[in-house]
Amino acid sequence: MRRKTFYLIGCLSFICWTAVLCYLFVHKPNTIKYVYKYEEVNKEVDILENELKQQLKSNEALLMTLKNIKEQIIKTGKDIKHILAENPSALSMDRTVDINKDPVICVLLFACNRITIKRNLDQLLKYRPNPRNFPIVVSQDCGHEPTRKVIQSYGEQLTLIRQPDQSDIPLTGKAKKFKGYYKIARHYGWALNQTFHTLNYDTVIIIEDDLDLSPDFFEYFRALYPLLKTDPTLYCISAWNDNGKDGLVSNEADKLFRSDFFPGLGWMLTKDIWLEFENKWPKAFWDDWIREPAQRKDRACIRPEMSRTRTFGKIGVSNGLFYEKHLKFIKLNEESVPFTQINLTYLLKENYDVDWVKTVYGSPTVTLQQLLRSDIPSDGPIRITYGSKDGYKKAAKALGLMDDFKSGVPRTGYRGVVTFMRKGRRVYLAPPPTWKQYDITWR
Ligand SMILES: *[C@@H]1O[C@H](CO)[C@@H](O)[C@H](O)[C@H]1NC(C)=O
Ligand SMILES: *[C@@H]1O[C@H](CO)[C@@H](O)[C@H](O)[C@H]1NC(C)=O
Repeated sequence: MRRKTFYLIGCLSFICWTAVLCYLFVHKPNTIKYVYKYEEVNKEVDILENELKQQLKSNEALLMTLKNIKEQIIKTGKDIKHILAENPSALSMDRTVDINKDPVICVLLFACNRITIKRNLDQLLKYRPNPRNFPIVVSQDCGHEPTRKVIQSYGEQLTLIRQPDQSDIPLTGKAKKFKGYYKIARHYGWALNQTFHTLNYDTVIIIEDDLDLSPDFFEYFRALYPLLKTDPTLYCISAWNDNGKDGLVSNEADKLFRSDFFPGLGWMLTKDIWLEFENKWPKAFWDDWIREPAQRKDRACIRPEMSRTRTFGKIGVSNGLFYEKHLKFIKLNEESVPFTQINLTYLLKENYDVDWVKTVYGSPTVTLQQLLRSDIPSDGPIRITYGSKDGYKKAAKALGLMDDFKSGVPRTGYRGVVTFMRKGRRVYLAPPPTWKQYDITWR
């Protein structure tokens, strides 16, 4: 009986291997018709390479499982059927490991009536490592035909879904002029439900049609996926630094932070969090709603020093002034950081917080005036202290930072601390070390 099992396993392995070889042969003729399109050939090869790598990975996992079973057969003298009957998860456990190693992360792109979505789509397709791990879903509201045509011209490289409810939203008084925000919230709610429930994806990267992307956009999210899945004190991964202007950021492309402020603008969300949100999704201003304590529940996001997205469009619902005054100065990262090769466990709360407090409060303090005059005796990072809402706003304005609060949290703030660069030096704008929590009346 035992010997039989081994033969069976041997045969299975052989069949798997043959299948891989056949797959290669069968797919070979495909490349011939692309013989004049080197780029496409390259892409095909990349895809194939990736699929092979995945195949190898899952073979490895299978092999490990089989080895485990073999050991048990040797140890217990039982046959494989009994072992699987006693431990039905023996084979499926490795599958979960597999899912974590090779996640499928859907990119959900929100569209309405901007044909410039082409610029975003071209970048998505240029930087996407492969379609298997990063399927693209475009959700269109507004029923704008020219935009739909642009999206459909990409054929099977993406999935187009269309928001069916084009009814007017009746609003009275002041709310009327915010109708655009109501439509956006309705669209988001519908499309996220579609993506998580109908299309059944487990994790989604949410972007909008007016974003430029960094070359390592996918690498960034892929690397941070395990953190989002394992650290319950995180509720999003964002590509955006609200204070990411030239001069306020260092050129450390690999530098990442935790943020109590939900940045949005290219962010990753899991189904678990969506299940919390789906039944209370707001009618408007969904991003500020996500920032409220009832939704945030003291959780944080990861954000980069150098933004992985930048908005290029100024025609939209939020006014063009904000674009002209602020958004257009955000610096887009242009270097590729191999994030998946970097040990990112320092970002887990239990590691990060201790370090953060030590670093911030271990830095010497100077006054705002000293900083503005560059009158600082020491080298290295420094700290300035704010003790009130107005104190924060005054410093932020003088230093060129965003000066607003949402639910009491300043943009990019972590434990009340906002960090940025000034003349090549790292600065922490921090509350006193006795800080306990945000004051939601600060706005
Ligand atoms: C999403 O779907 C769920 C389940 O059908 C429903 O209860 C919820 O109201 C929907 N949410 C939104 C925002 O459409
Ligand atoms: C990653 O870094 C942490 C410290 O933050 C360390 O404890 C851990 O062993 C490292 N993991 C690997 C795989 O190097």
